[in-house]
Amino acid sequence: MLMGQRRVRFIAMTQADVDVVAELEKASHSHPWSRGNLQDAVDHHHAQLLVSGPVEGELATWHTGAGEVILGYCVAMMGVDEAHLLNITVAPTHRRQGWATVMMHALAVWAQGRDAHLLWLEVRASNTVAQALYASMGFEVVGVRKRYYALNAQAREDAQVMRLPLKAWRMPK
Ligand SMILES: CC(C)(COP(=O)(O)OP(=O)(O)OC[C@H]1O[C@@H](n2cnc3c(N)ncnc32)[C@H](O)[C@@H]1OP(=O)(O)O)[C@@H](O)C(=O)NCCC(=O)NCCS
Repeated sequence: MLMGQRRVRFIAMTQADVDVVAELEKASHSHPWSRGNLQDAVDHHHAQLLVSGPVEGELATWHTGAGEVILGYCVAMMGVDEAHLLNITVAPTHRRQGWATVMMHALAVWAQGRDAHLLWLEVRASNTVAQALYASMGFEVVGVRKRYYALNAQAREDAQVMRLPLKAWRMPK
């Protein structure tokens, strides 16, 4: 897929990517996934990387072993007739360039292709950036899981439960 000056593609995350993705997790989340969490996602074939070739003059910090630039990654799984997004992360230097939207659209198409009716996710109540991304795609808030996420040693944080109805969803033109 050609996006601006980049040719981008999705590739399955492999064991060889776990270390660099663990670094990206630490750079991106207050409570990053562990290497074990990432390893599980790889073992179950739930994790995809969005990568591109290097762009001249760009200082890219995160690469696959093959030298491709890691723009971001997502982890999702199918239930019986529903899909669940577990993680979506864009590399800090590549944010606000539409890459999360690309991944979300690809996920919705993937889930529709497996006859899923809904795409579900949970998001921290404080993560207004991610909430704006999901709302921009048509996700609706359908509930709250109280104290779902660890916040610090003393406190926990609610999750908003969001879902995207897939039957009528179409990729925006
Ligand atoms: C949330 C995240 C994935 C968004 O990635 P991104 O590639 O920057 O998002 P996009 O460029 O596709 O933005 C899509 C929309 O999301 C919203 N959005 C994204 N970044 C935003 C910001 N900093 N402030 C406000 N809204 C924002 C906007 O509505 C945006 O549309 P617009 O640019 O037309 O206004 C990225 O910020 C990230 O990796 N954050 C850390 C990890 C995380 O919180 N993951 C989600 C929970 S698992």
